[in-house]
Amino acid sequence: MAAEFHTTEQCPFDLKHTQLAAMKTSGCRILLFILSLSSLLCYIFLDPALYLQEAQPAVHQRNISILLWRWPFGRSYRLDGDKCLEMYNICRCFLTDNTSTFSTADVVVFHHQELKEGLSSLPLHLDRPSSQHWVWLSLEPPVNNANLTPLSGLFNWTMSYRRDADIYIPYGKTMLGREAQRFQAAPNRSCLVSWVVSRYRPQQARAAVYQSLKKYIPIQVYGKWNKKPLSNKKLLPTIAKCEFYLSFENSEAKDYISEKLWRNAFQAGVVPVVLGPSRATYEAMTPPGSFIHVADFKSAADLATYLKQVAADRQAYEEFFQWHHTHRIKTYTDWRERLCQICVHFPRLAASRVYQDLESWVHS
Ligand SMILES: *[C@@H]1O[C@H](CO)[C@@H](O)[C@H](O)[C@H]1NC(C)=O
Ligand SMILES: *[C@@H]1O[C@H](CO)[C@@H](O)[C@H](O)[C@H]1NC(C)=O
Ligand SMILES: *[C@@H]1O[C@H](CO)[C@@H](O)[C@H](O)[C@H]1NC(C)=O
Ligand SMILES: *[C@@H]1O[C@H](CO)[C@@H](O)[C@H](O)[C@H]1NC(C)=O
Repeated sequence: MAAEFHTTEQCPFDLKHTQLAAMKTSGCRILLFILSLSSLLCYIFLDPALYLQEAQPAVHQRNISILLWRWPFGRSYRLDGDKCLEMYNICRCFLTDNTSTFSTADVVVFHHQELKEGLSSLPLHLDRPSSQHWVWLSLEPPVNNANLTPLSGLFNWTMSYRRDADIYIPYGKTMLGREAQRFQAAPNRSCLVSWVVSRYRPQQARAAVYQSLKKYIPIQVYGKWNKKPLSNKKLLPTIAKCEFYLSFENSEAKDYISEKLWRNAFQAGVVPVVLGPSRATYEAMTPPGSFIHVADFKSAADLATYLKQVAADRQAYEEFFQWHHTHRIKTYTDWRERLCQICVHFPRLAASRVYQDLESWVHS
């Protein structure tokens, strides 16, 4: 279990009033205030929780400007003011989508979807400062990232849900602490399993599992494919009516665990039946004892039998929610939060690096 703590203090050097108040709540933080120069030691020796954290943010000392070349899927967010500081308490991290600032940007981020036209989508006609880092960003599995070959030798960092990306931006993460979401011990759920699917393809692994499973148990299917789309408002309440949710990824790719698990199942408060990367990957990324993995069953019949058994046994069902006492989850949905993460990772990123073969990296 790679539990992570959420640090709110990325900005110990330029304190605001609210941060000062927060600091007074713990000895470490007061020390950190007094001994601002030894803040790193304070983090490590006085707050073991932070020391345990896998992705320990180091505090970068200078301003970092991040230029987002095109908004992912054409949907823009407001960037006025200092969003990283105001929204996420990450300091000295300035986001812009003003492409005229190219020559002064420390980091330029390119989202894969907007590179579909190949090299013509990139500012190759402009003088690229030698210290500037280009980031290739995608939250999609390899199957959706076509045409990578022309992009070889251009990017310095990768930004993805993959744990081995330079900038790791998962769809969600597990943290220590209690889950705030209340769980009703024995809700009378009116159905056994639900599944929301918009792009159903018969050749996908998840389609085969669904087709076999529905021979043994009823499955409530929603989404575009079934012509029963759910609005954002209806999504979680509808899923919450069933005991289990099929968190089936559209492809089984290394570390690819999407909002189908973090939002659809965990936020709805139902037990996820997962199909995606290996059990070991789920164990490393999700709360303990929180899911049922399709690969653990010899057949769809066995899985169906197991689901019926668990649904009929309140105690067994509630076991899947034990983690609510010790862990909580955090989901990421705002592109700005993801972009601000670049600054959190910045001090640890390779100063000079080039992805000579992005295609191989994506498929590795
Ligand atoms: C960093 O940015 C802040 C806010 O724009 C500015 O006041 C400060 O002078 C900058 N520092 C450096 C070293 O450029
Ligand atoms: C974009 O950046 C350029 C160069 O810094 C600046 O002159 C221009 O005013 C900016 N445009 C907007 C809309 O902020
Ligand atoms: C659940 O529903 C059944 C049948 O409708 C009812 O007998 C039972 O008391 C309900 N249980 C709870 C906890 O509401
Ligand atoms: C980033 O990648 C470019 C293109 O390969 C390369 O020329 C440049 O040296 C790299 N920059 C850094 C800082 O590594």
